[in-house]
Amino acid sequence: MEPIKVKEDLYWVGAIDWGVRDFHGYVTRNGTTYNNYLLLDRDITLFDSVHRDFFSYSIDNVRRIVEPNKIKNFVINHIEPDHLGAFEAFLREMPNCKIYITERGKKGLERMFNVEPSRVKVVKTGEILNTGIYNLLFIETPMLHWPDSMVTYVKELRTLISQDIFGIHFASTCRFDDEFVETYSSFELEDAVYDYYANILMPFGNLIKAKIEELGKLGVDLEVIAPDHGVVWRKDPKKAINIYLDLANCKSEMGAIIVYDTMWGTTERMVFPIMRGIADEGVRVKAIKLRSTPSSYAIKEVSKLRGLLVGTPTLNNSMFPSVAEFLHHLFGLKPKMKIAGAFGSYGWSGGAVKEAYELLKKMGLETVEPGVEVNYALRDEDEKRCYDFGKNFARKLKEFEV
Ligand code: FEO
Repeated sequence: MEPIKVKEDLYWVGAIDWGVRDFHGYVTRNGTTYNNYLLLDRDITLFDSVHRDFFSYSIDNVRRIVEPNKIKNFVINHIEPDHLGAFEAFLREMPNCKIYITERGKKGLERMFNVEPSRVKVVKTGEILNTGIYNLLFIETPMLHWPDSMVTYVKELRTLISQDIFGIHFASTCRFDDEFVETYSSFELEDAVYDYYANILMPFGNLIKAKIEELGKLGVDLEVIAPDHGVVWRKDPKKAINIYLDLANCKSEMGAIIVYDTMWGTTERMVFPIMRGIADEGVRVKAIKLRSTPSSYAIKEVSKLRGLLVGTPTLNNSMFPSVAEFLHHLFGLKPKMKIAGAFGSYGWSGGAVKEAYELLKKMGLETVEPGVEVNYALRDEDEKRCYDFGKNFARKLKEFEV
C-alpha cells in the first residue's frame, strides 16, 4: 500500500488486514483496515497508531511523506490494541513528539507502556491544538466505545478523525465511501455499517445521539469523516450519521429472525412450521442456524429486525451451548425495542426454553409466552403447535409499538 491523500495536507497512512477473521470473537469475514492519518503543517501530527503486526506498513507510508523524527504531535484517540499496538514502535521513530490523549487514555497508556510523563499532554473536550495553519479540536467520547475514547476535528479541513465511530470492518482497495460503492455496492456498505454498529456500538445508542448533537453545538461540520477502520466518508458522510441515528433510535424493520441450533434435528424441524405460521401472517421471516453461522453475524441480523425467536434443545437441563453463547453475547450488547420468544426440544427433561426466556426478559425485551416445547420428536400435533406459535408471535409482532 501507499499513503493516500484524504484532503489537502491530510494523508491516510494505515494498513490493510486482509486475513483477520476473529476480532476478539467478532467474526470479521471481510477482514479490516487499521487507519491512521498524517497531517502536514508547521507542526506535523500523526493521528493514532495501528495494530502492532502492521507497524511496518504504516511507518513505510509515513516515510514516503516525511521523516518520522519530524513529527511533533501524536494524537491518541483510542487505546484499544488494534490502534495502540504499534505505539512504542512509533515512539521510537518519533523521539521529538508530544502525545495528546484523554485522562482515561493516559491511565491506560501508563498501564500498557512506559512513557516519559512530560511527553504526555492530557486534553479535554473543547481544547484546541494549533499546528500552524490547522487547528485541532479535541472532543472526548467516553464509552464510544471505551472510556478513553475521543475524536479530533481538523477545523480548517472540516474533517473528523473519528477513531472507531463510523468505521466498518472490511479490507478492500477502497479508501473512500464512493470508491467502495462503485466497487461493491451501496447495500454492501450499509450492511457493513450495520454489522459494525450491532457488534460494537449497540449498547451505546443514547450516548451516540447525545454526541452527534454535541458535535453540532461545537460547530463541527462533518464534510469528511475519517474513522480508524474501513472507508473515509468523503462523498456521503450523512449516510453514516443517518444510519447511526436510526440504529441509536432502535429503528428496525418489520420481520422476524429465528436464531437456533439443533442436537438431533427436532429443534430444527420445529423451525419450518414456525416460519410458515409467521409467513402466513404476512410477516417476513429469516432463520440462522448457529454453529454454522457466527454469533456476530446473527447479531447483525437481529439488529435489523424487530422480532427475535430463539430455538434451543435442552442439554444437561440448560440451553444448548451455541445458543447460550449467542444469547449471552447479545445480552452484553443490550438490544432494545424488540419482541422475543423461544422454543425447543428435549428428551427426558426440559429447561432450555425456560432459561432462554429468563435471559430475554433480563435483557428487557417484551416476550411472547408460553414458548413451544417438543419432547423427542415432532409429531403432527406438535407441528400444529409450532405453526400456531409462529402465527401468534407474528400477530404480537405486528401489534408491537416501537
Ligand atoms: Fe478499533 Fe475499539 O478498537
